[in-house]
Amino acid sequence: MILRIHIGAFTLTDAVREAVQDMSEDRIFLRSSTMIEDGGMDAAVAYLSEHSTPDLLIIESTAEDEALFEELNMLADVCQPGTRVILIGAENDINLFKTLIESGISQYFLETVTAEELKAAVVDTFAEKSAQAKSRTIAFFGMRGGAGSSTLAHNVAFELAQLYDEDVIIVDLDIPFGTAALSYNIQPHQTIADALNQSANLDESLLMRFLETGTKNVSILCAPGRLNSGVEITPQTLERVIHVVKEMASYVILDVPHAWTTWTQDLLVDADETVLVGQPDLYTLRDGKNLVEFLAPNRGLEHPTRLVLNRVGELKKGELGEKDFKDVLGQAPALTIPFDGEALAAAMNNGEVLRSAAPKSPVTESVETLAKMVSGKEAITKLKKQKPAGGLLSSLFKK
Ligand SMILES: Nc1ncnc2c1ncn2[C@@H]1O[C@H](COP(=O)(O)OP(=O)(O)OP(=O)(O)O)[C@@H](O)[C@H]1O
Ligand SMILES: [Mg+2]
Repeated sequence: MILRIHIGAFTLTDAVREAVQDMSEDRIFLRSSTMIEDGGMDAAVAYLSEHSTPDLLIIESTAEDEALFEELNMLADVCQPGTRVILIGAENDINLFKTLIESGISQYFLETVTAEELKAAVVDTFAEKSAQAKSRTIAFFGMRGGAGSSTLAHNVAFELAQLYDEDVIIVDLDIPFGTAALSYNIQPHQTIADALNQSANLDESLLMRFLETGTKNVSILCAPGRLNSGVEITPQTLERVIHVVKEMASYVILDVPHAWTTWTQDLLVDADETVLVGQPDLYTLRDGKNLVEFLAPNRGLEHPTRLVLNRVGELKKGELGEKDFKDVLGQAPALTIPFDGEALAAAMNNGEVLRSAAPKSPVTESVETLAKMVSGKEAITKLKKQKPAGGLLSSLFKK
């Protein structure tokens, strides 16, 4: 989860000031802005009477009983409606707590608060908002080049559209080398380059002009697939494009290229589902471990990161097994997909999805399983408890 909010904190004590400061350095707030002022409630009221209200106020107060309610009434007079407020107060009274929550205070902490508690409270307060988003974003990332991440992304898009009769948009973010258009046999007239270049004015009707039709229910924001498109993705332009795309379909499939930049990290952290695609080899094991260690805490427990091993059986000898991944990553692959060169070649050469080019291939079946897994529609798969790494190979990867 990544929050994009403006936070105003008005503190009295060093402890609370430091807690807000520490919290704001957490990755989840990297795209947020935080202002911390001394002076508690008085300073908050004075500030708000002259400035627009931040999305979230964190206010420390020592007032009790009537005095506290007077302060809160003054605050309400200068605060825009809908502002979330976290209060750190002095009074330990359960009725007071109830009244505060009823009057719109999001959370109440007695006397002091830690950075962790604050972060949890903010996430809680804003989680509802992100849950209301219209669409489900599913990011695909290859743990190394050529693992099959794009192939799976484009085919999962097709399966989702068929299985659930929902609109799906594929966003091909691999500007020079993207293959979504080829997967659907399209020669794009407009691409994501147009959307990025016009991100400042982008809305649904403008973006509609840049989408190509892949097949029924599947639209594609294609990559230029040229070396000289001159387009550079920035976190800001991309954020705008994704924001608009999310308003336009039930599923947004992000084909994220194998690169480690601010915006690729943002996408992998922020997506509802993140699928890491690798091959059963040692490089994937190392990179998978690094990625899971980065993503798991940043995505939070409710948003697991799924590991998919693709092209399994391609090497006749020397492939690693599921157990090796489980031992080192503390997490077994969510799915292993066999190698089927013939089926994939047929799909690629015809510009067809696997369902049409090779309906009987076990890879097609795996893609359907993966689509169901990430759809959010099937019975929730139980989260497996993450075990600490152990076993032979893990000794290779000790810090
Ligand atoms: N299960 C499979 N069996 C056989 N071939 C496969 C399989 N999955 C993918 N491929 C093939 O592997 C090649 C690379 O696939 P793809 O372009 O999807 O990988 P990628 O991870 O997106 O790579 P890149 O790093 O270039 O973005 C393609 O030729 C594709 O057809
Ligand atoms: Mg790719």
